Amino acid sequence: MRILGIETSCDETAASVVEDGVRILSNQIASQVEIHARYGGIVPEVASRQHILTIIPIIKQAMARAKVDWGDLDGVAVTIGPGLAGSLLVGVNAAKAIALARGLPLTGVNHLEGHIYANWLGNSIPLFPLVCLIVSGGHSDLVLMKGHGDYVVLGRTRDDAAGEAFDKAARILELGYPGGPAIERAARAGTASLKMARAWLKGTSDFSFSGVKTELLRLVEGGKISLSADQGNEQVTAADAAASFQEAVVDVLVAKTIEVAKERRVRQILLAGGVASNQLLRRRLIENSPAPVLVPELVLCTDNAAMIAACGYYRFQAGRTDSLDLDVFPSLKLA
Ligand code: KG4
Ligand code: ZN
Repeated sequence: MRILGIETSCDETAASVVEDGVRILSNQIASQVEIHARYGGIVPEVASRQHILTIIPIIKQAMARAKVDWGDLDGVAVTIGPGLAGSLLVGVNAAKAIALARGLPLTGVNHLEGHIYANWLGNSIPLFPLVCLIVSGGHSDLVLMKGHGDYVVLGRTRDDAAGEAFDKAARILELGYPGGPAIERAARAGTASLKMARAWLKGTSDFSFSGVKTELLRLVEGGKISLSADQGNEQVTAADAAASFQEAVVDVLVAKTIEVAKERRVRQILLAGGVASNQLLRRRLIENSPAPVLVPELVLCTDNAAMIAACGYYRFQAGRTDSLDLDVFPSLKLA
């Protein structure tokens, strides 16, 4: 069964063909990152206009790369939310047009579900029950899965998402955009010499990252962190600050994920979302986990359409198709 996946929820225009939910035939991604970088963040109106320009070429590329024609496809899966309304609309309308013109079944996919299903595109198939830590620009969720399409959100962030915290920290440290990769790069040249606050929120599986971000801002404003090339005696570098910040965020993410995995006696831990490409997070989780850890390859952590096609395959298997009046849901939740 070959599914065409389409993803336009944020600033990546992506299309992919996936076979039987596990084999990637193509995975095309057009990133707008350079366009938005000059504004220091995503401008929604610019994003939707760019999706309109890119969507048809990227779908054609995905079909050509996969060496498939319309007649070789068995269904279309598209992200319906959460995300930017104008951006989502571009992908959903393209998917509907293809479904209508070719008489193909259509299924709308939750972007977060898609991130989880990136783990089905690796070398080993995930085993239930499992717990998945989804850490992206908009979400930090700990999700228990006992089967396909069965999600119980055990914890979520109460303020900033992990990726959002990385992005804001990078802005504070003047390291550029997008922040996650910039912090990770800077941290490699530094040491985690600052002991930054961790919000443990004991007795819950929730997260909070706004405190550590504010602490970073105070340390810059107070002169403890020097953003220039020369440091005073009492000062630390931006690289040290980046390493300390990364350490604090990863510490909480890993400890809380492992706590839940033990409590629920899961067979596996999955990582998903853009922040899952962080090497320290991957390493720490693998080193400390009581169960095998699956992590998607790097290109499948950040936004892509292969994960949407993979998730769409399981939705079709479960008979979950949508009609042509499918709409977008910018604030869609997981469960
Ligand atoms: O999943 P994603 O591509 O888009 C959303 O659905 O939000 O995640 C993007 C987020 C951004 O906040 C970005 O800074 C973060 O993932 N990110 C990282 C890394 N690569 C991307 N955060 C930490 N370390 C990284 N290497
Ligand atoms: Zn995402």
